Parts: sequence; C-alpha cells; structure tokens
Amino acid sequence: MDDEDGFRTTIAKRLGKRGFVPIQASSGEECLDILGRKPVGVVVLDVKMPGISGIDTLKAIKQAYKKIQVILLTGNITVSDGIEGIKAGAFDYLTKPVELDHLVNKIKQAFEMIRLEEEKQKELEYRAKLEKKMIDTERLVSLGTMSTGIAHEINNPLAIINESAGFMKQVIIQPEMSRIPQKEALLLGIEKIEKSIKRARKITHQLLGHVKKQKSQISEVDLKALLGETLGLLEREVEEKNIQIKWKTDKKKKVLWSDPYQIRQILINLLSNAVHAVKNNGIITLSLWETDVDINLEIKDNGIGIPKKNLGKIFDPFFTTKPFDEGTGLGLFVVHKIISSLSGEVTVESTLGKGSSFMINLPKRLE
Ligand SMILES: Nc1ncnc2c1ncn2[C@@H]1O[C@H](COP(=O)(O)OP(=O)(O)OP(=O)(O)O)[C@@H](O)[C@H]1O
Ligand SMILES: [Mg+2]
Repeated sequence: MDDEDGFRTTIAKRLGKRGFVPIQASSGEECLDILGRKPVGVVVLDVKMPGISGIDTLKAIKQAYKKIQVILLTGNITVSDGIEGIKAGAFDYLTKPVELDHLVNKIKQAFEMIRLEEEKQKELEYRAKLEKKMIDTERLVSLGTMSTGIAHEINNPLAIINESAGFMKQVIIQPEMSRIPQKEALLLGIEKIEKSIKRARKITHQLLGHVKKQKSQISEVDLKALLGETLGLLEREVEEKNIQIKWKTDKKKKVLWSDPYQIRQILINLLSNAVHAVKNNGIITLSLWETDVDINLEIKDNGIGIPKKNLGKIFDPFFTTKPFDEGTGLGLFVVHKIISSLSGEVTVESTLGKGSSFMINLPKRLE
C-alpha cells in the first residue's frame, strides 16, 4: 500500500516477477477494504499517507487480522515511525528508498514467520486436545473403578430383594390367600419390584461382567472367531432386521494375548449398538487388520449416527438416548473401561443420518 502511484506500481510489477501475487492499494481505507475480501499474508505499508495514517492502518490490521504480517516503509528521516510501528505489531520496517532484494527478503521472512506461528498454533491446539483426552480418560478410569465397587456392593442386597419378592409372590398366589384384600394390587407391586430388579441387574452385570470371576484370564484370543461367535448371540436381531454383515479382512487369523471374556464384552456392546443403530436392511462392516504389535478393528454401521453434541458424552456412564427399559447407557462406558485396562484405544467417528464407526486398537500382548 502506497499513495505514490508510480512507486507502488513499479514495486508491484517487480514483486510479481519474483513469484509473489501483489494486490495494490493507494490508501489505508482501500487496504482495509481489500483485507476484508481477500486472503492476504503480508502487507507492505507506507507510513506517510494522507487519510488514515500508516500506523493507524497497521493497528487496525493487527486488531482485525492477527495472522497478517506487516512490513512498514518509512522515510529516511522518520525512523522513529518504524520503531513506533514495531511497538504496534509490525513485523519489521525498511527505509525508503527501498532496495528490491531487501524487500523480497523481508517479505519471505514474514511469510516464514506466518508459517512458524501457524505451526505453533497447531502444536498448542494438539496439546490442549491431548490434555483433554488424558483428563477424560483418567476421569472415566476412576469412575470405572468406583462404579465396579458400587455394583459389587449392590449385588448382594439386590439378590436379597429378588429372593424376598419371589417369596412374597409365592405366598400371595397360594389358594388360601385368594380372598385377601387388594391381592391384585399387591401382585402388581411385586411385579414392579421384579422389573426394577431386572434393570438394576442389567446395570450391575454390565459393570461387573456377566460371569463371576476373580481375576482376568489371559489366553490366546482369535479375534475373528470371537467376532463370529459374538455375532451369533445377536443372530435373532440381525435376521429380523435383515442386516448385512460385511467382512473386510484377510485369511489370516487375528490373534492376540488378552482376556477373551473382556474382549467379548467389548464386542457384544459395540455390535449391539450397531445393530440398534441401523434400520432394516442396514449394513454393518467389520474390518480387521494387524501390524507387528497391535490389532485394529473397525465396526462401522450405516445407521442413525450420533449428533455432534453427543459425541463427547457417549462414553460417560448412564448416557443413553434409548428408552428406559432398553438402554442402561453403560455399554460404551464399559467398552472404554476395558479397553483402557488392556492398554488399547477406542475412537469414534460419526455423521448424523449417515452412520458411525468405532475403531479399536489393542496390543497383541499385554505388557
Ligand atoms: N453405533 C451407534 N450409532 C448411533 N448411536 C450410537 C451408536 N453407539 C452408541 N450410540 C449412542 O451412544 C449412546 C450410549 O451407548 P451405550 O452403548 O453406552 O448405551 P446404550 O446402548 O444406550 O445402552 P445399553 O448399552 O445398556 O444397551 C446410545 O444411547 C446412543 O445414543
Ligand atoms: Mg449399548
């Protein structure tokens, strides 16, 4: 930007020959107007201008477009303008008359500075993301430990309630009880108790695992076979909805040393979510591939998808969008809990209305 037309046009022409794409402005106002419309990296700005002064233009640029770098051109006697400019955020200043090579070098440096700052910004964003992920994981892991403890404690009273409800039912349906007042209402009450126990059971089972076992047992797990087996458990729903299961893997076994019981629990939770998510004739794609150290599984469905605002919540305990008697909201929480304990990783990608994809990465051997 320069108000001296001859000088500006010559410089622009020469810069064009050096591989830059210059846009010319003859005043601060015009310059700001152009910046609002076009993507610009570097501004070469004459300080001495009629209308808005160069320094004020600089300040306006820096306020509105933080990433743009500004090089000031000052008259020989007005070096103090340059210093003031640096204070106001200019990248550097050159004194007129300016040598083209000098200017070209400065512009290149300014672009380099933009690149570095972008990199720095990306690095910062990446770190913030990583930190948030670590906090999320830690939070979920400690919630996992706590909830397992609670589930364990609740199991015993639950068994007693269940037994007692069963006993009461037995007593009430005896013939000699046929004339007690409100018998039907009592039975209805007991049924409600039984139904609620069922739900509470579902929750404790999900958190504890369906089989009582003391310690996790590590053995060879053939993931492909286990996937097939787990799909068998969902056969009825898969057939009812006429869901197509597509496999993407090679002929080789996909073997890891892990806890088969826990892996099965991961698979059943992810597969049943996928089965729930798809409509009739939906497609579930299972991709399985390995590296030297780990095995990757992707369970992809073309179902309802997950709204963006829910993506951060689906691994939280008790987060569900399903009706009360269908979902506990613990499936993915447990998946995350188990995968963390197996030193693996689970990630999700989803587009609303298009489908979801859950990616699991598990080490072939637990350290
Ligand atoms: N494949 C998927 N497609 C669309 N939404 C999903 C998918 N998987 C999970 N979700 C969403 O994440 C929520 C939490 O899933 P999660 O498995 O933890 O619980 P749930 O399925 O609701 O209950 P439960 O697992 O006890 O049956 C679901 O309610 C659903 O909204
Ligand atoms: Mg589920």
